Amino acid sequence: MTQTNTPATPNFFNQEMADSYDQRNSALQPISGCLHFLTNLVLAPVPRNASVLCVGVGTGADIFALATDNPGWRFVGVDPSAEMLEVCRRRLDEAGLLGRCQLVRGTVEDIADTHFDAVVSLFVAHFIKLDQRAAFYSGIHRRLKPRGLFVSAEISVDLEDTSLHATVKDWARIQSLMGQEEKPVEALIAMFRDPLGVVSPAITEGLWRDAGFAEPVPFFQAFAIRGWHAQRPPL
Ligand SMILES: C[S@@+](CC[C@H](N)C(=O)[O-])C[C@H]1O[C@@H](n2cnc3c(N)ncnc32)[C@H](O)[C@@H]1O
Repeated sequence: MTQTNTPATPNFFNQEMADSYDQRNSALQPISGCLHFLTNLVLAPVPRNASVLCVGVGTGADIFALATDNPGWRFVGVDPSAEMLEVCRRRLDEAGLLGRCQLVRGTVEDIADTHFDAVVSLFVAHFIKLDQRAAFYSGIHRRLKPRGLFVSAEISVDLEDTSLHATVKDWARIQSLMGQEEKPVEALIAMFRDPLGVVSPAITEGLWRDAGFAEPVPFFQAFAIRGWHAQRPPL
């Protein structure tokens, strides 16, 4: 595994998290269901025999969301957490999908293929250290074919905005829905700043442009979670 794209919270996705991740997230199904539905629509132009890279594949939610409607797609899932990948492998196997998937322990920099039709990275970017976020998006851009599509969703909030307190109060409700202990809004804001390094939509869009995605398109928002898609421009 390379030393770039290091997670901001290296021990967060440990065995305990891997074992409880799907159960915790099930409470958020209306949000992830909508995001996955829209992601499928955004990826509608992708060819039937596409090769799709899922960066931060975790326990496989991205693959499960895309594989059924797109039976000809093959997937590469990459993630630095061996524990998350192990759960992912088991679930894909049980669902009969493992034959269409390759799982790699590492980050996008460990992926040699640079001809993916699409890259999907859901709920991952805010876990990448802020000083490595630009390299993260450039790494994704380099692995796409010209005209390939990128879809990503992350926690993105303007930490200087006057609505910050109210926005994070909404977010606290999401956290308690996932069974996490209630934290004061100030503690959540501190966590957004460090270790997560949450940045505003304008900063994320700037990072995408710098990476080569000329036109990031915002397509999703649920409280503090925002999603964009973009195309790698033709050569
Ligand atoms: C919140 S989970 C999201 C998993 C999945 N995409 C989903 O939607 O359920 C974030 C995942 O990102 C992974 N991750 C953290 N740092 C990463 C990096 N530098 N590159 C790729 N994945 C990373 C974590 O190990 C974890 O599995």
